[in-house]
Amino acid sequence: MTSALMPTYARQPVAFSHGEGVWLFDTEGRRYLDTTAGIAVCGLGHANPVVAEAIADQARTLVHTSNLYQIPLQEALADALRDASGMDLCFFGNSGAEANEAAIKLARMYGHKRKNIDVPTIIVMENSFHGRTLATLTATGNKKIQEGFEPLVQGFVRVPYDDIAAIEKVAAENPNIVAILVEPIQGESGVRMAKNGFGYLEQLRAVCDKHDWLLMLDEIQTGNGRTGKYFAYQHTSIMPDVVTTAKGLGNGFPIGACMVRGKADDLFGPGNHGTTYGGTPLGCRAALTTIRELQKGPIENARVMGERIKAGFLKNLGDLGVTVEGAGLMMGVVLPRPCTELVARARDAGVLLIVSAENRIRLLPPLIINAEEADLLVEKISALVRTFLAEGAAA
Ligand SMILES: Cc1ncc(COP(=O)(O)O)c(C=O)c1O
Repeated sequence: MTSALMPTYARQPVAFSHGEGVWLFDTEGRRYLDTTAGIAVCGLGHANPVVAEAIADQARTLVHTSNLYQIPLQEALADALRDASGMDLCFFGNSGAEANEAAIKLARMYGHKRKNIDVPTIIVMENSFHGRTLATLTATGNKKIQEGFEPLVQGFVRVPYDDIAAIEKVAAENPNIVAILVEPIQGESGVRMAKNGFGYLEQLRAVCDKHDWLLMLDEIQTGNGRTGKYFAYQHTSIMPDVVTTAKGLGNGFPIGACMVRGKADDLFGPGNHGTTYGGTPLGCRAALTTIRELQKGPIENARVMGERIKAGFLKNLGDLGVTVEGAGLMMGVVLPRPCTELVARARDAGVLLIVSAENRIRLLPPLIINAEEADLLVEKISALVRTFLAEGAAA
């Protein structure tokens, strides 16, 4: 029988029956070291027992009511995120794209309400990824993702990542700019970091202050401990005006959040935004439990293990021209030549990994990875890369 699924994903020939920590087990009983964590989602590992118990208990108690009513667990989750982020207010949706939709709407409201701008325009970056809805795919800096879906949404201007002069040029030419939407580290395009690391965020903050724009950080992938701080901007002393997050927020339970602070606080009122499933008791219990568990150690572990893994790769592969980019457990291992075939080879060797931008191995393991597992990850991937590069040299 042919599949009844729309063929929107080029799936690999493997299915998993269960997981435990950094390990996934396929339906044939083979074990894999998972360096993807469901693409930066399961920070606390697969089948985390504390999150599983919280979800089961909440499912037995109350799954969903409606945003027509008070939802104490939603309030509690917003409080926890406020404490973790230093932001003021929170809106909950179900995914990263939805969180970014909220941010885009906020920027437009800011333009109309505060700046009397009819076509509020957001600066976005080349090589960025912000989601697959119409507005977020327009914001995304990847033509392949946009192709076939024209007309795209108006109100976006694109500049190269890590290029403040390009932003200043747009500012001089376009009086309609109201905000910058940017990933602190670009994830989907292969873990790309600005030359001066998180210092780029400080430069962006200064530009936004100068022009009275909103600084909107897409922390959908970098958030929830991934880079070794709860949010990536916490590696600096700046505060953004809008932050979006999702992925690791529910450890696999679908939930996203858009947070605001300061001048973005009073842009939305009743009726401006909403979604049926946003902030259900079940979703909020899952996320609240995830945040509490992340704060007990995995975030610091991400920093320590990230350094250990990076050092391991540089030691094993540095002589072959391999470099490592990123922070914490969001890492791009950059090879001197395209390496997409490593995905299948690694899988055969019992390791799940992602290759982006043809020559970047993207590592996003669970944040609870221990030293032994981290060393195994480095050892296994280094061996694969060494053989692969030697073949290239011989050819
Ligand atoms: C930085 C960033 N923004 C937005 C998204 C979209 O999130 P979702 O797939 O949950 O809609 C992603 C997903 O990969 C992402 O990495």
